[in-house]
Amino acid sequence: MQAPSVSQQVAISLGERSYPIVIGPALFDAPQTYAAVPASSAALIVTNTTVGPLYAERLRGALAGRHRAVHVVTLPDGEAHKTWATLNLIFDALLSNGCDRKTVLYALGGGVVGDMTGFAAASYMRGVPFVQVPTTLLAQVDSSVGGKTAINHPLGKNMIGAFYQPRLVVCDLDTLKTLPPRELSAGLAEVIKYGPIADLDFLDWIEAGMDALVARNPAALAHAVQRSCQIKAAVVGEDERESGLRAILNFGHTFGHAIEAGMGYGAWLHGEAVGCGMVMAARLSQRLGGVDEAFVQRLAALIGRAGLPVRAPVLDPDDNAGRYLELMRVDKKAEGGEIRFVVIDPPGRALLRGAPDALVREVIDACCKG
Ligand code: NAD
Ligand code: GLY
Repeated sequence: MQAPSVSQQVAISLGERSYPIVIGPALFDAPQTYAAVPASSAALIVTNTTVGPLYAERLRGALAGRHRAVHVVTLPDGEAHKTWATLNLIFDALLSNGCDRKTVLYALGGGVVGDMTGFAAASYMRGVPFVQVPTTLLAQVDSSVGGKTAINHPLGKNMIGAFYQPRLVVCDLDTLKTLPPRELSAGLAEVIKYGPIADLDFLDWIEAGMDALVARNPAALAHAVQRSCQIKAAVVGEDERESGLRAILNFGHTFGHAIEAGMGYGAWLHGEAVGCGMVMAARLSQRLGGVDEAFVQRLAALIGRAGLPVRAPVLDPDDNAGRYLELMRVDKKAEGGEIRFVVIDPPGRALLRGAPDALVREVIDACCKG
């Protein structure tokens, strides 16, 4: 595949809250990328201790013409820091630098930085503009798009947050060159997700292109990011606040969030938990009659080829399924204590439904045995 030399655009259509996602090489440090962002006296780049040293100064340089002062706040790295305490560091930086309500926030990093910056932007002075500059594959194909922002609570993942759309998303494929292999695999989980829920042709393409994706072929990554963003844009355009359809984007996430919380945030990467969670959700779909055994095997093989775990971890040796169920009951999709799962039915389509505890226990047991 030939490397793309020009950027592509995907539009998120949400009336006056519409915005473009630009995808391509050499974007994030080019001043013209930000031409449509409102000029203001101040901007704050929010980044972390890993991404900041790699990219913050180049972003600051690109923004110098749009904002008189460009401040940087550097957060501790990791899912375990997606907390109130870390969020407060952003507010500290905004207030101590005298930032006003026209200040633009730039999220430079993966999904953790993006989710926290978005939440800070939603609430600082009741809302200031923000721009997503995602630097992980996961953030480029999913978390930077669609306006979900959040922090974790010790009792549940992403439980405190807001819907708040960015003004622009800048997916610079060059930033993926420095991503550790484990993080690339985590991002591939969210790419794979779009196939079973929405686009079987894309699933075929991912299967054929998995080796190129793992090898970071630029053209393969460009297509994966573009098609993923197109599918997400279509879903978010129809159901921004998840009153129905948008829940399908959580395929694998109900089991996955239980794995993340049960193992302790940061032990399994979000994408790893989602990858394994998709195997579990596919197995549940099969038990409910939505897909056949071959489909479960096909998906598990693809997730394995992406370098992701396919066997579910034991969260509690005394009552493993009970622990999963307990954690899944605090999922945002649960209603009145009933867990609701995204299941595939038929391949290429997903729906939200409940399932008897006994059946879910059986699925958990089967998936923990591998
Ligand atoms: P992350 O933000 O923790 O980033 C992964 C790691 O890669 C971090 O150590 C980070 O510092 C490092 N990193 C980032 N970019 C890099 C680069 N270019 N080079 C080298 N290292 C780099 O994790 P993530 O997988 O990007 O995001 C996961 C988070 O996203 C979770 O908190 C999850 O809940 C959230 N999420 C949100 C949505 C949403 O719709 N808002 C969707 C999916 C996931
Ligand atoms: N990542 C799920 C969503 O944006 O709805």
